Amino acid sequence: MQPDALIALFDQQAPGYDRQWAKTAAIRDCMYLVLDPLLAGLPDSARVLCVGVGTGQELAHLAQAFPGWRFTALDPSGAMLEACRVRAQAEGFLERCDFHHGFLDTLPDTAPFDAATSFLVSQFLVDTTARTRFFADIAARLVPGGVLASSDLAADTASADYAVLLPAWMRMMAMADVTPEALDRIRQAYRDDVGVLPPAKIAALLQAGGFDAPTLFFQAGLIHAWCSRRAG
Ligand SMILES: C[S@@+](CC[C@H](N)C(=O)[O-])C[C@H]1O[C@@H](n2cnc3c(N)ncnc32)[C@H](O)[C@@H]1O
Repeated sequence: MQPDALIALFDQQAPGYDRQWAKTAAIRDCMYLVLDPLLAGLPDSARVLCVGVGTGQELAHLAQAFPGWRFTALDPSGAMLEACRVRAQAEGFLERCDFHHGFLDTLPDTAPFDAATSFLVSQFLVDTTARTRFFADIAARLVPGGVLASSDLAADTASADYAVLLPAWMRMMAMADVTPEALDRIRQAYRDDVGVLPPAKIAALLQAGGFDAPTLFFQAGLIHAWCSRRAG
C-alpha cells in the first residue's frame, strides 16, 4: 500500500479502532501474558520504541506492567497517534511518553533504545525488501542485544491449513461484531495490501534485518508473535 493510502486508512479507522477490536482483546491479552516475562530482564528504566503504536494498546499495557519504563510512540497516522496520546493522558502515563508522527526514517537521532515493539505493522509492507529494511531500521535504533517484540498475520496461504484458518478467522471477527463493511475491507486488504507470509519466512526477514534467531512465542489463529534480539 502506498504511504498516503495507508495513512488515510488508519486515520479513518482511528475513531472506531479500539471499539472494533474490543471483542478480540483476549488474543492480545494472552500475548501480553506470555510477553511480559520475556521482557522482564530489561532495565527498570528501559527506553522503548513503539513502532506503529496505533491507539496505544501495547503501550498502555507495558506502561502499566513496567512503571519505570519510558516510551517513544511512533505512528504515521496522526489520528491513531492522537488517540494514543489521549489514552496516555487518561491513563496517567503521558509524562513517560514522547510522540513522533511519521515513519521511522523521520525520527530524529536519539540514544539507542533498549527495546522496541511493532505489533501488526510490518505486514503492511508487501514488498519483502522494504519489509527487511523496516526491521533493519528498527535494529539500527536498538542497543546491541536490544529486544524487538513483534507480531504479524502469518500463514502459508497456499496450504490446506490456510483454507481452514482464514474462513474461521473471518467468522471470529464477524462473531466479534466487526461490521460487515469492515469485514469486506479486511478481506480485500488480506488479498491486496497485507503481506501474509509463512511464519518461517517472516522469521527469516527479521534475521535479514539484523536480528538473531527470532523466537516465535505466541500464535493465535493467524497472529504470530516473535521475540528477537539485535545481533552483535
Ligand atoms: C493494525 S495497526 C496496529 C496498532 C497497534 N500496534 C496494535 O497492535 O493495536 C497498524 C499501525 O501501524 C501503523 N503503520 C503502518 N505501517 C507503518 C510503518 N511502515 N511504520 C510505522 N507504522 C506503520 C499504522 O498507521 C497503524 O497505526
